[in-house]
Amino acid sequence: MSRSAHPAGPRHADVLPEGHYSAPADDLNVLDPKVWARTVGRDADGVVTVGGIPVTQLAEEYGTPAYLLDEADFRERARAWRTAFGDGADVFYAGKAFLSRAVVRWLDEEGLNLDVCSGGELATALSAGMPAERIAFHGNNKSPEEIERAVRAGVGRIVLDSFQEIVRVAHIAQSLGKRQRVQIRITVGVEAHTHEFIATAHEDQKFGIPLAGGQAAEAVRRALKLDGLEVIGIHSHIGSQIFDMSGFEVAAHRVVGLLKDIRDEHGVELPEIDLGGGLGIAYTSDDDPREPHEIAKALTEIVTRECEAARLATPRISVEPGRAIVGPTAFTLYEVGTVKPLEGLRTYVSVDGGMSDNIRTALYDAEYSVALASRTSDAEPMLVRVVGKHCESGDIVVKDAFLPGDLAPGDLIAVPATGAYCRSMASNYNHALRPPVVAVRDGAARVVVRRETEEDLLRLDVG
Ligand code: LLP
Repeated sequence: MSRSAHPAGPRHADVLPEGHYSAPADDLNVLDPKVWARTVGRDADGVVTVGGIPVTQLAEEYGTPAYLLDEADFRERARAWRTAFGDGADVFYAGKAFLSRAVVRWLDEEGLNLDVCSGGELATALSAGMPAERIAFHGNNKSPEEIERAVRAGVGRIVLDSFQEIVRVAHIAQSLGKRQRVQIRITVGVEAHTHEFIATAHEDQKFGIPLAGGQAAEAVRRALKLDGLEVIGIHSHIGSQIFDMSGFEVAAHRVVGLLKDIRDEHGVELPEIDLGGGLGIAYTSDDDPREPHEIAKALTEIVTRECEAARLATPRISVEPGRAIVGPTAFTLYEVGTVKPLEGLRTYVSVDGGMSDNIRTALYDAEYSVALASRTSDAEPMLVRVVGKHCESGDIVVKDAFLPGDLAPGDLIAVPATGAYCRSMASNYNHALRPPVVAVRDGAARVVVRRETEEDLLRLDVG
């Protein structure tokens, strides 16, 4: 492969076009531990390694693109959440972020519970042996078949999302001669994303039952009357990629207010409160997420304080982090295909994947960072846009970043923090084959989700 210079794209900070990016790091070879999985480093040859294995070796063995998942990091993060909340609370990993049978086993071994939101996720959890009583079943439109399957399996809780579902679940449970433990998901009028939260009318969405207008109280009133249901608590999830705890503060205040109203009206103190997930991670060096122990302390204090003020016994708290556990533990390894400098603009670096393995940039304008992984380089930084191979100009993986100016076809580049919502939202757009997830630990790698093949595609196409 040639490493010869190509026509020069913009290199220096003083000739860069406008865009949403910070100045290049002093040394592009340095991997910021904030955004990379914990066992990631560079070996003596400058090749990025994970779990002690060079990415060049992983690329050779498993191909590119591939999601490389640091199992030790996953387990450590899961354990940190578990330890931070302690025995008096429950941590439900949100499987929508990324779920596979290996992940289910790791969670089981590390003492976490699991939140699933579809029949497919439930099937994955059960097939990997997660005890049903440690599963929470979510969703705004669970089918009767899914509900029946969950009730029969004996899931620990179903999170009810509508008035109709209250009746539906009660009916199914009763017809199976069971009493299903349920939480009621409410919307508290708070929406939080990243550094901001808004505490106004955010009931205008498909999830949950609004607290406003007494609807949540009415839902509890109805659910408490039904024999098929055991109402164990109230659930609230306020958003994603949250750094600021004040949204949780308002949410907890409002949920506890409802618990107090329920106690006053029915003489019942519901024993549990679930504050959902949504805790942020670092996608770039500019992000500063909190540690699980800080989050646990903050949430526990908020709930305890609110309950003391309302003269309620503090309920058992549960949380549902997905991204905060799996997000930082994986990165996507791509091979560079073409490098196209556009005079006065930026250099487009095309990789062998794209929006089919990471839709988040196109969908949410998400920001990512990127590093040259198969070697180091002392070349001047160049402003790049990392794009995929799909037939769409919005097929962008990393919108604005710097890579060494001598980047060439055949180089491997890695995009960190792709553990959450990348494989789980991957598609077959343009009949792309979804990449494998390779778990690496202590110098050993194994495929936990294999790469799709053309045979897989054609098997579904029955002609
Ligand atoms: N619990 C509930 C009820 C949820 O709806 C979600 C996420 C979570 C927990 C986990 O949230 P996390 O801790 O992972 O942020 N596809 C989007 C994220 C959608 C999140 C949907 N619900 C993304 O890629 O950013």
